[in-house]
Amino acid sequence: MQEYNNEKDRLGNLLLDSSEEEIRSIVSSMQLLMTYYKCAMHEIEAKFKVLNEEFSLQHERNPIESIKTRLKSIDSINHKLKKYGYEMSPQSIWDNLNDVAGVRVVCSFMDDIYMLADCLTSQDDVKLIAKKDYIKNPKENGYRSLHLIIEVPIFLCNEKRYVRAEVQLRTIAMESWAKLEHRMRYKKELRDDLLEATHDKLLECAELSSLLDLKMQDIRDIIEGCPLEEPKKQ
Ligand code: GTP
Ligand code: MG
Repeated sequence: MQEYNNEKDRLGNLLLDSSEEEIRSIVSSMQLLMTYYKCAMHEIEAKFKVLNEEFSLQHERNPIESIKTRLKSIDSINHKLKKYGYEMSPQSIWDNLNDVAGVRVVCSFMDDIYMLADCLTSQDDVKLIAKKDYIKNPKENGYRSLHLIIEVPIFLCNEKRYVRAEVQLRTIAMESWAKLEHRMRYKKELRDDLLEATHDKLLECAELSSLLDLKMQDIRDIIEGCPLEEPKKQ
């Protein structure tokens, strides 16, 4: 509740030129919009949980290590809209942003990522809007993950509304690299000399983490491909 009130205050600060009534109306549209995004996030999380359950029943292991959801803060919504030259309004958020609702799925192995992405996007109520495969084509700094922009329906009293969300799928190794890199560099205005001094080392870490994923998957394939031992004769 505290956090929500802070967000409301922040929004109020962004609308200093508006009248009391305008602010109230924008705040209430924003509240509704953020509720749509929150519901979409929950829908997607539930879909992944179902896939995880089904897979673990069939294969006796969980393809998903963890699922995290996050709603973009008002500050970062405002920052991103400004960056691309869009106005800050509920309509503009709806029209221009794909990642207000975010779901991050950390998988055990690399091929689980593609299996889960295929299962999700082939569901008949999920619309795939865009796909960025930073695993097959890592970013220049070494960042790897599979990003999907999807739309899922949320069911309201009188309507069904498709809501957009960003899904990021990655392995444990990709997650630990991205987390540390994010803390140290991503979106930080680091000095050029520091950027240069750390670039190669981070890339090397990303390559090591990619090797780790391949080797782990190899080990898993050996174990899963191994025929069951005959029970010993008494
Ligand atoms: P944003 O403005 O950051 O949302 O980027 P974008 O709209 O160009 O989309 P992109 O798919 O490249 O990145 C979306 C999200 O992926 C980011 O918000 C981060 O969570 C994650 N991400 C992308 N690139 C990097 C990176 O180089 N390092 C880390 N740690 N995370 C990244
Ligand atoms: Mg983003």
